[in-house]
Amino acid sequence: MRGAHSAAGPSLWRASVRLSGPELDDGLLLALEVEAEAVAAFADERDEADEPRAWRLDLYFREPVDEARIRALLADAGAGERLAGSVAVTEVPPADWVAAASAQRGPVSAGRFFVHGAADRARVPAGAVPIELEAGLAFGSGEHESTRGCLLALDWLARRRRPERVLDVGTGSGILAIAAAGLWPCRVVAVDNDPVAVLVARENARRNGVASRVSVHLAEGYRSLFVARRAPYHLVLANILADPLVAMARDLRDHLAPGGIAVLAGLLDIQAGRVERAHTLLGLRPVRRMRLGRWTTLLLRKPRGRRGSVARRR
Ligand SMILES: C[S@@+](CC[C@H](N)C(=O)[O-])C[C@H]1O[C@@H](n2cnc3c(N)ncnc32)[C@H](O)[C@@H]1O
Repeated sequence: MRGAHSAAGPSLWRASVRLSGPELDDGLLLALEVEAEAVAAFADERDEADEPRAWRLDLYFREPVDEARIRALLADAGAGERLAGSVAVTEVPPADWVAAASAQRGPVSAGRFFVHGAADRARVPAGAVPIELEAGLAFGSGEHESTRGCLLALDWLARRRRPERVLDVGTGSGILAIAAAGLWPCRVVAVDNDPVAVLVARENARRNGVASRVSVHLAEGYRSLFVARRAPYHLVLANILADPLVAMARDLRDHLAPGGIAVLAGLLDIQAGRVERAHTLLGLRPVRRMRLGRWTTLLLRKPRGRRGSVARRR
């Protein structure tokens, strides 16, 4: 990765702006993403019909930025007139990223996947699906049971499914998004609410030659235009934690295509029943439970032919 690093992680600068008006199209976000490292969009105000009235955008940069640069950037993207109020720039201090501790230590095999660092490139076994990760500042080196559980679930699915659109919620290093892109000729949307993870996952997608099919965005759960516009998904991967998974159960159901599969992880065995119930109550069906150590990976399916609020592609 480029950019200023401390032992704890890279410094980032966040510029927050408010844009008036209900519209926020992909074109504008993509134009801003060319200049900024990551862009998060939130509806800042909603009308009685729950439609956005104004937007807040957080733009993340690797270097310090000032208001003049942000104004120029918005003007170039055709949104200069919509800027409401001033631009707030704050430094995001380097954090003690979880993943600093989970840097790639040695190759990890999980089913057909071989997760390795650059030094072990020559050791990829014949027939394996390689995933090369840079020693990471984002979680997901393949060593943790929750990640390995997801890789094994993907390995199992590879013999049964061929998803075209995949969503990876909480992508971390991008490992699962890259794994899916390595298995199938699919398009993957990967999101994380940590801007550093977004940078790391993008870099890893490039490193693995799948950046044209894996788009990585900053988002809180499913709350992203990029996520909504590409829904519904044939496969959703979410290795987060039990509580957020339960909280996001409805979003998952709404973003899955009928017949689509969800792989949920980040839960201890004793939490699996609660997480599964939160989803079966919404109509999803259990497919399989996979255990590794104290960790469980859940596979769930959305039945076909049910009425339900499936988010639509626009
Ligand atoms: C356990 S790591 C999983 C990383 C990788 N997917 C893997 O399987 O190894 C969880 C990731 O989810 C992200 N995360 C946690 N809560 C989130 C949320 N509400 N929305 C988006 N990302 C989230 C964290 O920043 C972290 O990178």
